[in-house]
Amino acid sequence: MKAHYTRIALAVAAAFGAVSSSSTALGDESADKVARGKYVVTTSGCNDCHTPWIMGPGGPEPDMSRMLSGHPQDVPITAPISLAGDPWIAAVSGTNTAWSGPWGVSFTANLTPDSETGLGKWTLRNFVDTIRTGRHMGRGREILPPMPIPMYKHFSDADLEAIYTYLQSIPAISNKVPEPLPPVQATAAN
Ligand code: HEC
Repeated sequence: MKAHYTRIALAVAAAFGAVSSSSTALGDESADKVARGKYVVTTSGCNDCHTPWIMGPGGPEPDMSRMLSGHPQDVPITAPISLAGDPWIAAVSGTNTAWSGPWGVSFTANLTPDSETGLGKWTLRNFVDTIRTGRHMGRGREILPPMPIPMYKHFSDADLEAIYTYLQSIPAISNKVPEPLPPVQATAAN
């Protein structure tokens, strides 16, 4: 009888052991993805463009209290800049989040998990399709410069998944980024 109970106890312990070790393994796997995603994001320049810059003691720097929240909604920009031509073709706002060039004005997107103004409702598929095709969610409008799609579309599937997992884990910031503005010629023709 004693042996019987011991066997049951062992079986139960094994079952719990299996459950807890598999959930730990899952937890580790997602923690690994977040860590890898953070590494890729911080070494691939995402903060340079998607985190608004402020003037720090040593010059302009990304304001990490607004990490990856995109062009600030309270910095309105209503028209592209008109440049004289060679050698300049583009200009950037002081926040480093609005870019004026031959494509019009592009505003960096809110990459935080805010569900209304960021990527909160995006699936991994939406994210991968955007980066691989250079179109919003893989089927919408073309993603404008200077978003480095030509480079980023070569990220491995594992790195894209890691970036996505990390971006979904950072603090959500509500910030509604404006739609891009058309180029000067297109505005003049209208
Ligand atoms: C040189 C500046 C720059 C860098 C670096 C950059 N981005 Fe962007 N990104 C932009 C701009 C500008 C847009 C908006 C383009 C548009 O509106 O068409 C954008 C758009 C996006 C979009 C599309 C959002 C949507 O709604 O379709 C995603 C996703 C994105 N960036 C992710 C990233 C990630 C992840 C990184 C780093 C691995 C990164 N970006 C680095 C400038 C940049």
